[in-house]
Amino acid sequence: MDIPDKNEPFPLKNYKRLCFLKNIIKNPNILVGDYTYYDDFSNVSNFEKNVKYHFDFIGDKLIIGKFCMIASDVTFIMNGANHLSDAISSYPFAIFGGDWQHAMKNKSYPTKGNTIIGNDVWLGYNATIMPGIRIGDGAIIGSNAVITKDVEPYSIVGGNPGKLIRKRFSDEEIESLLSLKWWDWPIEKITGNVQKLTEIKLSDFK
Ligand SMILES: CC(C)(COP(=O)(O)OP(=O)(O)OC[C@H]1O[C@@H](n2cnc3c(N)ncnc32)[C@H](O)[C@@H]1OP(=O)(O)O)[C@@H](O)C(=O)NCCC(=O)NCCS
Repeated sequence: MDIPDKNEPFPLKNYKRLCFLKNIIKNPNILVGDYTYYDDFSNVSNFEKNVKYHFDFIGDKLIIGKFCMIASDVTFIMNGANHLSDAISSYPFAIFGGDWQHAMKNKSYPTKGNTIIGNDVWLGYNATIMPGIRIGDGAIIGSNAVITKDVEPYSIVGGNPGKLIRKRFSDEEIESLLSLKWWDWPIEKITGNVQKLTEIKLSDFK
């Protein structure tokens, strides 16, 4: 079998603007599954630059599943972006030290936890994913969407704030796809089924 090498940073011959993402990530708080790719208009190193406000001292993680498709300029806003919103002022006095240092004593900035992207998720051009969001397996995020709420598996979401455009399949079909979990099959089995996986006949897998 001739199968793309999941450990190859640049799987397309003579093309350096698409990468198997896990192979170019340096930040240990960004975890990416096999075969997830990132395509960038100029340089794939922009991916980490577009994971914004991601500070080690907060420790939040960006976790992305397998076989995701991530378009250029997709941005993840992480928890370090948050100021206080339930106080008189959201100004971060404490970071400037001196007599302002005690402003945050016994308080903490709001955090919404890790950002978790499922498997086989397509993130369209210039989409923005806000902190702590979970995007379910098989979801599609439209170009320029701003995702502020969790996204159900196999739904298509677009706009700002992101709203459901439609579900890709019936609830029953989604249930069977979620138990199929094709992305966890051995790669040889996936390879033997690529034609069926790119068709709409779910009955092939019953
Ligand atoms: C979201 C998307 C997948 C929907 O495609 P589709 O199923 O063919 O949808 P349609 O064009 O039939 O539009 C369906 C509805 O969604 C709306 N819509 C489509 N794309 C949208 C987007 N990006 N943001 C907000 N709404 C969108 C349409 O206005 C339409 O609304 P209506 O039902 O009120 O008339 C597609 O428009 C998209 O954004 N793809 C991402 C492309 C991309 O960024 N590729 C990067 C390279 S991989």
